[in-house]
Amino acid sequence: MKILVTGGTGYIGSHTCVELLNKGFEVVVFDNLYNSKIEVVDKIESITGKKIAFYKADMLDKESMRPVFEDHTFDAVIHFAGLKAVGESVEKPLLYYQNNITGTLNLCELMSEYGCKRIIFSSSATVYGEPEEIPVTENCPKGACSNPYGWTKSMLEQILSDIQNSDHEWSVVLLRYFNPIGAHESGLLGESPNGIPNNLMPYIMQVAVGKLPELGVFGDDYDTPDGTGVRDYIHVVDLAKGHVNAVEKVTSTNEVNVYNLGTGNGYSVLDIVKAFEKANDLTIPYSIKPRRAGDLASYYANPKKAKEELGWEAQYDLERMCQDSWRFAKKNLS
Ligand code: NAD
Ligand code: WQD
Repeated sequence: MKILVTGGTGYIGSHTCVELLNKGFEVVVFDNLYNSKIEVVDKIESITGKKIAFYKADMLDKESMRPVFEDHTFDAVIHFAGLKAVGESVEKPLLYYQNNITGTLNLCELMSEYGCKRIIFSSSATVYGEPEEIPVTENCPKGACSNPYGWTKSMLEQILSDIQNSDHEWSVVLLRYFNPIGAHESGLLGESPNGIPNNLMPYIMQVAVGKLPELGVFGDDYDTPDGTGVRDYIHVVDLAKGHVNAVEKVTSTNEVNVYNLGTGNGYSVLDIVKAFEKANDLTIPYSIKPRRAGDLASYYANPKKAKEELGWEAQYDLERMCQDSWRFAKKNLS
């Protein structure tokens, strides 16, 4: 089977390419390299010993994507390409709506034109807003997102569902990720955001390599066991494997299916700091700061539906997530 991976040189996309190649899929990638580097293609190939076809294309320039569809016939598309920085989306909503929504509309038009109507979409747990229940199940209604980035995910879920509803040749799998961290065990693939990171693990890694003096812990007065925010951190390789399982689903049904991809475990900010220190035998200086606007106390998945229907569940524990994150940081960030 041949899979198109949009945004395939990015953090989650690159790990998914590795898992797809390891399972014998043919992989074609396009990316505009806005938030990733072309070297990632070589790294994917050196890890797997297999080739991928790479195209530099921008979803906002529909014609730049056309050669990808002219040259290949796809069994399914895994759609990662998009902008993802929450804070930036508040400052530049037009950029986010334009890139993520117009870009995806362009992609879907081409998919329709070339007769590939199966898409696995990178959604986010953020679409639940303030969820009705914790752990969060897929039965929880979607809620109000706290930023434009989140709204692009929520709106795209609706758009893809409407497309499928209008044309039952379409098959749509919406994957709602919780908090991906970790890196490939080779230390070759991982996440290296530009500038000062917003997310917890990239920030910890910058402190660990000495680029930032200390971690600010955003609030210690939440209604959680130690007062700091609780999240569902999932190893990016586990997340990548979830996509491989979702390929079977998207190619065997003509429906819209939605799955949480999380571990079901909630860890606090201080749990993560302590686990990172223990796994890697180092110290992360931190101080308590005020709460960050928009943060919830506790947010973790009920991943049962993905286990039952996709046959997928996360395998890697927190220690492994911390070890793999640090291996990547040492090789790439210092
Ligand atoms: P990433 O930024 O590492 O990867 C996204 C890739 O898309 C980048 O390589 C970027 O260059 C590319 N891209 C962006 N706009 C493009 C365009 N117009 N045309 C072509 N390529 C374009 O991000 P990631 O962490 O790998 O996330 C992948 C997807 O998963 C995103 O859609 C993101 O919103 C979603 N997601 C991520 C998280 C997370 O915490 N990392 C959580 C939930 C959902
Ligand atoms: C985790 C915890 C912070 C940084 C975000 C997006 C979400 C999804 C995943 C894409 C919280 C605390 C953080 C720091 C801290 N992305 N923290 N100091 O906010 O759960 O989710 O990434 O879809 O949409 O919102 O992740 O890593 O930013 O924060 O104390 O410097 O760490 O308050 O409790 P979040 P995060």
